[in-house]
Amino acid sequence: MLQGKKILLGVTGSIAAYKSILLVRQLVKAGAEVKVIMTSAAKDFVTPLSLATISKNEVLVDLFEEDSWNNHVMLGRWADVMIIAPLSCNTLAKMAQGLCDNLLLATYLSAVCPVIVAPAMDEDMWKHPSTKNNLEKIKSFGNKIIPVESGELASGLFGEGRMAEPETIIKFLEDIFFLKKELDSKKILVTAGPTYEAIDPVRFIGNRSSGKMGIAIAEELALRGAKVELVLGPTSIPVNNLSIKVHRVESAAQMYESSVQIFAHADAAIMSAAVADYTSAHQLKEKIKKTDNVFNIELTKTKDILMTLGQQKKAGQILVGFALENKNEKEYAIGKLKAKNADMIVLNSLNDEGAGFGYDTNKITIFEKDGSEFNYERKSKQQVAKDIVDRMIKLMYAK
Ligand code: CTP
Repeated sequence: MLQGKKILLGVTGSIAAYKSILLVRQLVKAGAEVKVIMTSAAKDFVTPLSLATISKNEVLVDLFEEDSWNNHVMLGRWADVMIIAPLSCNTLAKMAQGLCDNLLLATYLSAVCPVIVAPAMDEDMWKHPSTKNNLEKIKSFGNKIIPVESGELASGLFGEGRMAEPETIIKFLEDIFFLKKELDSKKILVTAGPTYEAIDPVRFIGNRSSGKMGIAIAEELALRGAKVELVLGPTSIPVNNLSIKVHRVESAAQMYESSVQIFAHADAAIMSAAVADYTSAHQLKEKIKKTDNVFNIELTKTKDILMTLGQQKKAGQILVGFALENKNEKEYAIGKLKAKNADMIVLNSLNDEGAGFGYDTNKITIFEKDGSEFNYERKSKQQVAKDIVDRMIKLMYAK
């Protein structure tokens, strides 16, 4: 899968740099062409000679060498992907700030290919707010972060912060290169986030959906080559993949309008938004004053977007809905699958810990039209997005 891929590996000063030797070895074994750039600090942990021998390419460290200049722009253009592994706290901070005081950073700033990082640091550094901010910052640049692992750290303490193992990094890379083709030229609608139903100019009825799950799904689809149209309710969660077309909406009625239009030309839709079931019957132009002790709002039902798309679905289109339940979960989920003419329903149970609104993790069960049921463990929302997209692809290509 990595045969012939050009991989630029950046190695920074961290005890985990020893793993870069194993990583290069496995990449080369998989048929990739590997060039390595190191920071000077990395040389204290692993020698350029070892990495040059294993990669079969000269290892670059400095912007200038004797009488020549290392062309960071061309290195950034040569690569299909740049991986920085291990990524130290120091280099992370410099990347977040756009500093450019070595060859690795100059290449990072000029790279036009995807950039993936595998951080490595001690748990306290990993948990420091400034590290978290810096990671968020580079994520907002579109860089992909391979999660750290837990275990024994260089300090002798146990905790989070270990760099991912070379096998995990290679799997991550394969996902980027291999999965890209599966949804090439497919147009997919995703709805995500909450809706806000206005009561008056300052107040609304909303819900606690963050949009994280739907955004993770949109990003996973985009990674696999789909043209994604994301209809997104109000949220502050960023959408990092610039290829995703984001339609920002506020109310259920706006989400309905955008979704119906997009679905008419889409191959599939994944409806993960927490759409309000009711909206205020009278949206007042003036702010409501607190005069009465009791205040009633008249609510009317919103249009069910998933149900509408289910009615409009053409042969070959795949429709995926969500169900959030706290009792008779399976029965209700299967009921929705049928009532809304969906091909697949993703069930979140409110009874599962660490699942649902606001969390970074989710635990799902998938029900499909042919009666099959798939149960998954609790995972990060990114991993859950992969599972959902995997099933959706199976349905798309089974048709
Ligand atoms: N949905 C939608 N439009 C609506 C309401 C919901 O598209 N107006 C979609 C959601 O995006 C989700 C699924 O329908 O995919 C959820 O089904 P729904 O019946 O709305 O769930 P609940 O609101 O939880 O239903 P219930 O009344 O059974 O609690």
